[in-house]
Amino acid sequence: MDMNSRVSPLRLSANALGNPIGINDRSPVLRWELPEVNYTKPPTSWQIHVADSPEALARNEANYWDSGWIEAERMNEAAYQGRPGGSRKRLWWRVRLRSSVENVGPWSSPAWWEHGLEVEGDWSAKWITTDITGGPRRAVPAPYLRKAFSLDGSPPKARLYVTALGLYECEINGQTVGRDVFTPGWTEYRKRVQVQTYDVTALLRAGENAWGAILGDGWFCGHISSKDRQGYGPQPVFLAQLEITMPDGSVHRIVTDSSWKYSTGPILENDLIMGESYDARLELENWSLPGFREEGWLPVVEEAAPQIILTASASPPVRRQEVIRINGPLGAGAPAGKRSIFDVGQNIAGRVCITVRGPRGGHFHIRHAEMLDAHGELYVDNLRSARCTDKYTCKGGEEETWEPRFTFHGFRYVEIVFSGPDIEIVKIEAVALYSDMEQTGSFSCSQPLVNQLFQNIHWGMKGNFLEVPTDCPQRDERLGWTGDAQVFVSTAGFLRDVRGFFTKWMLDVADAQKPSGAISSVAPQIDARTGEDAGPGWSDAAIICPWEIYRVYGDRRILEQNYATMQRFIEFLRDKRCRDHIRSHPSVDPWGGHGDWLAMDGGVDREGSTPKDLIGTAYFAYDLELLSRIAGILGKTDDSIHYKAWREEVVRAFRRRFVTEDGLLVGNNQTSHVLALHFNLLPEVARNIAASELAKNIQKRSYHLSTGFLGTPYICRVLEDAGHLDVAYKLLEQETFPSWLFPVKNGATTIWERWDSWTPDKGFQAARMNSFNHYAYGAIGAWLVGTVAGIELDADQPGGSHILFRPRPGGTITQAEASWHTVRGRVAIKWEKCNDRLNLALTVPAFGCATLLPPDGYVAGQLKFGPGRHEIVLNGEVLAQKINRAS
Ligand code: BGC
Repeated sequence: MDMNSRVSPLRLSANALGNPIGINDRSPVLRWELPEVNYTKPPTSWQIHVADSPEALARNEANYWDSGWIEAERMNEAAYQGRPGGSRKRLWWRVRLRSSVENVGPWSSPAWWEHGLEVEGDWSAKWITTDITGGPRRAVPAPYLRKAFSLDGSPPKARLYVTALGLYECEINGQTVGRDVFTPGWTEYRKRVQVQTYDVTALLRAGENAWGAILGDGWFCGHISSKDRQGYGPQPVFLAQLEITMPDGSVHRIVTDSSWKYSTGPILENDLIMGESYDARLELENWSLPGFREEGWLPVVEEAAPQIILTASASPPVRRQEVIRINGPLGAGAPAGKRSIFDVGQNIAGRVCITVRGPRGGHFHIRHAEMLDAHGELYVDNLRSARCTDKYTCKGGEEETWEPRFTFHGFRYVEIVFSGPDIEIVKIEAVALYSDMEQTGSFSCSQPLVNQLFQNIHWGMKGNFLEVPTDCPQRDERLGWTGDAQVFVSTAGFLRDVRGFFTKWMLDVADAQKPSGAISSVAPQIDARTGEDAGPGWSDAAIICPWEIYRVYGDRRILEQNYATMQRFIEFLRDKRCRDHIRSHPSVDPWGGHGDWLAMDGGVDREGSTPKDLIGTAYFAYDLELLSRIAGILGKTDDSIHYKAWREEVVRAFRRRFVTEDGLLVGNNQTSHVLALHFNLLPEVARNIAASELAKNIQKRSYHLSTGFLGTPYICRVLEDAGHLDVAYKLLEQETFPSWLFPVKNGATTIWERWDSWTPDKGFQAARMNSFNHYAYGAIGAWLVGTVAGIELDADQPGGSHILFRPRPGGTITQAEASWHTVRGRVAIKWEKCNDRLNLALTVPAFGCATLLPPDGYVAGQLKFGPGRHEIVLNGEVLAQKINRAS
């Protein structure tokens, strides 16, 4: 059957952002999908039309781009190559496919993208601020800024271009603009800030109008990590331009300038780390409506424009994603009615939305914590200096609902302490906030504890993918730690669409790169505390993250954009960190990096720990291997050959220094073996020895882990590849400490920072570093998908063009399934063991192909599959193969 005559492309999207408004990209990537059906005559060419109106498209006038019929390998994605759109321009596009000249499918429905302000001269707005500054430790009320104006008629089009150093939320005529939270987001503010564009046509009207903004401290001038306030600047600064097109085509610009007025209102304090205080008695009723009396409001202060880049974000914004109704309270609370503790049931990053009825001046505060202590009280010691407390004072009368605006907390439990028993809670909810990344992957199997582990991994991601990939969302830290991101990136790429998120964060990493080429421990960089060089396993994120994003989405632009950063970084390693190809050689790098962070075998720098120069050299070899591949993909053949030869030298140096004549490895612990094997650094003879040493080490520990952040992600894969799948499953299903399931057995709903963050014998680990929402150990998610369920993307044909189905049943697991919405379409697997048979259902996307690598003991050899759904049964030979075609 030929579907092409009936099926038209769906889910059109530019730069993976749907119909994006305000982009700054001359050549956005246009992507579409096809329905899941079997194509007997698969499409071989696409055609795209781009025009400046949907009407022009309908008339077949592609006045910006008619690609013509393009025969391409990629049948669902193309970079725009038409005439540049330019500032403010909205371009409409559609796409169709054909399998032969006669066999042309229908056009898709039209989609669009719209450009933001692209050049400096587009801005006539001025940066404005207030005199409310506070001090390094003294918080101040949030300023409210406003401006009234009138319009002769009702505008057919209006756009708001807006940003701030600090946070902002705009209102027009009493209505909040957009749904984004914590705009404009976090970047290296000394170099760049993100700009948002909103379509505000529906908020304006003929006659009197008003527009205002509330400014928050955010990352710019609130506390970041454990630092004092005002890290980047003393107070928030605001820039906005409202462009209103009138019915006659004329354009009015209402911009921020010295004509604006400001005042303070109910937000007495706002800080991402400390919390927010709100006195509802001070609400400025109707402050963003026309006719509001600006009594006592002061003129704003104009500021010189900072010399930084204004740019649209490649990343989707943070939004309120999930609302969890909270029941409770726990116990009776004591004294009755004055204090209650609630359990959200899930550790999240977000905040509480509460509706109360109470007397005017009655007040309460909300404290947040991840855990309860032995007495059932909030355990807050691990928050360090983060106060994580929100305070509210009632205005009285009717029900009042409050959710803080410019703060978030990492918590599962909340305690509410009331000024008196006369405040009644009507409703209480927890709101999870994270960057708006579409979910792409799901996994489940027959082992409930493993399923809970997978849910915890997913929640670990949700709690930490908030504008940047943070280490944790609760204590006074919440930084974009490079090492954590690099170990988790491939699991993240399965769970959600992180293409834009990482494209943006790689800019933060590049912005934080030192003149020497060193990559910092955290991005955005906050201070010198995080050092010149992040060290092995952390700084390597500069190469590993773009590579993983390329593997998942198959878009080489992320490699192009980061290639120069990678090269400068690798030269820094050569010049400043290596002796005789040994990275972190103690004679040139006495610190040597964070080591195998939080490993159980002696910890960093203690006897039994993984030598830092071994870690350094292993990662150095891996960096060079990836760089050689990346150079090859980018057509830089000489570079590719150069990095390959260099890697071989590093591998030889590794062997000379760390492998004995008997083939044993120096640093006889789990992580040393995992890294040497995973990065393929050992001579053939030593591989088997290393694998059995690793297996022996694990057996000696009664199948327990001793690895830290760097050894943990790969340990199961290394065991599997070396023929010790049984050991890998014993580790996975281990329920006693240290193991993945130990926290699960003890009620965890996220991934803990440490294997022993809490144990029954010792209680809580040292409070100075003990988060219960740290995704790093969740990197095992990639193995659950790749091996337990059995879907892997082939890095040589990235983006899901070629899928490797490689289920490896083991342990007590008798059934598993996973589904992955790749850029080529949905890939799925479901397997079930029935006695000696394995029943499999495989789904291959319309533009992909797949190879099934059956597990040992089933059919020998590989089976190839084309698009569609395939049901097969394996046991020693293919018993049956049924291809279900959609009719
Ligand atoms: C962070 C980590 C990070 C580590 C590096 C910690 O404080 O929470 O996740 O990778 O420092 O040393």
